[in-house]
Amino acid sequence: MKFATNVALIIGIAAMVPLAVLADGMRDNVLRQAIVRAGLVPFQETHVEVPEDLVNVGKLLFQTKDISLDRKTACASCHVDRFGSTDGIANAIGTGGNGEGLERLAGGGDIIPRNTLPFWGRGSKGFNVFFWDGKVDASSGTIHSQFAGQEPSSDPLVVAVHLPPVEVGEMVADLAQNDHLEGESVEAAGVVYDMLVDRIAARSDIGPALAAARGKAVEDLEFIDIAEGIAAFIRTNFQLQDNPLNRFAFAEGTMSESEQKGGLIFYGKGRCSSCHNGPYFTDFQFHAIATPQLGFGKNGFGIDYGRYNSTLRDEDRYRFRTPPLWNVTKTAPYFHSGSVQKLEDAILLHVDPLAGLSPETMTGEQRVQFYEQLKAWSGETISGVALAPDEIADLVSFLSLLSFESREKVAETN
Ligand code: HEC
Ligand code: HEC
Repeated sequence: MKFATNVALIIGIAAMVPLAVLADGMRDNVLRQAIVRAGLVPFQETHVEVPEDLVNVGKLLFQTKDISLDRKTACASCHVDRFGSTDGIANAIGTGGNGEGLERLAGGGDIIPRNTLPFWGRGSKGFNVFFWDGKVDASSGTIHSQFAGQEPSSDPLVVAVHLPPVEVGEMVADLAQNDHLEGESVEAAGVVYDMLVDRIAARSDIGPALAAARGKAVEDLEFIDIAEGIAAFIRTNFQLQDNPLNRFAFAEGTMSESEQKGGLIFYGKGRCSSCHNGPYFTDFQFHAIATPQLGFGKNGFGIDYGRYNSTLRDEDRYRFRTPPLWNVTKTAPYFHSGSVQKLEDAILLHVDPLAGLSPETMTGEQRVQFYEQLKAWSGETISGVALAPDEIADLVSFLSLLSFESREKVAETN
């Protein structure tokens, strides 16, 4: 009886609305449910409140080149608005580099052998694992990092902010080879921190403001105060804002046909949401996608063992933290070594890693490495998925909904 009424109801509605529109509405509902089931929450619910005066002085700290030993590099030098808070190049270039792109890789020294990560949602609620290899990881409730028990804070973003100033300065070569900072290097980092504190405290535009925001005298400032300031700024300026996907899921927002198709693939046959899920489109786990490697690599000679660098467990080789996807259309190039320029190709390589292979340019060692990557990838959920070019185009349309702007623009200053 109930069935009959429902059918009558549906036929009744169908008589009024064209069938395609009706099916569309049903697909919208299915999609909305899938999005919420995969962990999206209204953007406001991710926000963490931070004192306004600390955010303001944090912005000055984020922008000043005084935060690097040779005064040539600011956080804002690599984390640039125009590129969705990344730098638009494959491997980040630290202080004192010359030339462009691959040319700079030959010189060694101040190259960070990884693709710059953007800041969207970093330090918001539940965002607990930082860097491509998760070298700052608070997901278990206890922080694990290179500080090995001597963490300067229980806030993982504050710990993460401690690392770049000692990596982009003169000490980059020492530290990059020392994935587990030993006692000596922690001390070396301490020397850098002390120099930076003296410098910042002496700045009339920053020192007193930072001290006031931290409730201290200027002469009592420590590096933790600088790190808290920068973290407050990152946490606030790049927090999630209203965006088309949020409006679709939680308000009256609509999707185009291609966006909707892409969404159904993302949460359905593409299995994207088995890893890219939760409020930030990451499971904060480590997976192997067998992406091509560009540049020296964290482990040298074109090799990056990824998560292994933090855990030294063989099974973690070639695994990387599932990257969050907010503003992903703006953060090219993609993957941990920035080896892929186009979003379409980044998606294709998830399901067809061989599409990115150019054996003629690979060393024997790299071929062995790629084979190991493929073995790891074959155990991932994505390895059984096939995607046609038009499906990949739809996925790109869908991902473009994950876009919003930072609260304020940033630019490097002296
Ligand atoms: C030379 C370019 C460069 C500069 C300068 C730089 N970064 Fe980064 N940043 C990177 C790269 C590259 C990564 C990814 C490194 C990795 O994961 O191994 C990164 C990652 C991060 C992350 C982790 C984001 C995530 O998703 O886990 C944080 C936090 C961060 N940087 C903060 C800062 C701060 C704070 C400063 C200034 C003190 C700064 N960065 C300066 C290049 C840079
Ligand atoms: C098995 C887990 C997993 C699945 C499933 C998965 N991804 Fe990923 N995705 C990753 C990992 C890990 C990376 C980073 C790999 C690297 O850097 O080497 C990544 C990277 C990306 C990137 C590049 C992001 C950046 O900032 O560089 C995009 C875009 C992306 N995935 C989209 C998708 C889409 C679309 C799907 C579905 C077709 C999907 N992913 C399925 C784990 C996954």
